[in-house]
Amino acid sequence: MSLTVKKLHPMFVGEASGVDLSQPLSQEEIHAINTAMDEYGVLVFRNQPLTQTQQLELAKSFGPLDMGMKKLKHRKDRLEHPELADISNVANNDGALAARDDRKIVSNIANQLWHSDSSFQKPAARYSMLAAVQVPEVGGQTEFADLRAAYDALSDETKQEIADLQAEHYVLHSRFMLGDTDYTEEQQQVIPPAIWPLVRVHPGSGRKVLFVPAHARSILGMTVPEGRMLLMDLLEHATQREFVYRHEWEPNDLVVWDNRATLHRGRRFDFAQPRELRRATTLDV
Ligand code: OGA
Ligand code: MN
Repeated sequence: MSLTVKKLHPMFVGEASGVDLSQPLSQEEIHAINTAMDEYGVLVFRNQPLTQTQQLELAKSFGPLDMGMKKLKHRKDRLEHPELADISNVANNDGALAARDDRKIVSNIANQLWHSDSSFQKPAARYSMLAAVQVPEVGGQTEFADLRAAYDALSDETKQEIADLQAEHYVLHSRFMLGDTDYTEEQQQVIPPAIWPLVRVHPGSGRKVLFVPAHARSILGMTVPEGRMLLMDLLEHATQREFVYRHEWEPNDLVVWDNRATLHRGRRFDFAQPRELRRATTLDV
């Protein structure tokens, strides 16, 4: 069988089938997935149970892996490979849940802000591959916003106004915003801020993107309040319902998104219920 894709949203997102992601992919399959990613920005694969090692091997066939915030060593690892991100409220491998004031819960909450993975560093993330292990019955969906459609829908005046603007993205901006400020001087400096234009060209499609994720904390050449308000205003534009797809998770789903073309956020859920996903991420090199 070969890859087939069914569109799930009028603007982006496809449900992909016809490949077994637990096995090494052929060059043709990798090419087909890359081509579909360039078009859809997000691909949903259902019923793909993967071991942690299989998930990592899958990601490696799309590029070198990103360690992202793990470079701060801000919390302990539970998974088999340091390259996998533990997107869960599970504290240990006995299945106990993290305490409410555990930094792990802060990470869950920070993921509920609209963001693009690792936009606080260069190179940033290209593909994130998130696999569902267990999900709550209520809430805990993941939403995606189409930044190409968002750019296209800007007024000509706004397109002109922001054409040459650049934003500074910082790894701890979202944490500071949530009141999680207890980081050593060294942790604060491990990843220096990264500058990205507000308008970028998505290499795979050649389309322009409105790049305004939550890690952006200021706009170069503007006062902080003016820059932040503009960022918030543009983010509000980019995340209107018409540009957003909401993914309702089933165990063994694997969702892949292109961090250069989309934003994403988790939705609230009851932290007393287990929610367990794992992410492997490729670097945009
Ligand atoms: C992520 C992320 C959101 C969610 O894994 O990068 O932001 O719904 N996840 O868990
Ligand atoms: Mn994320």
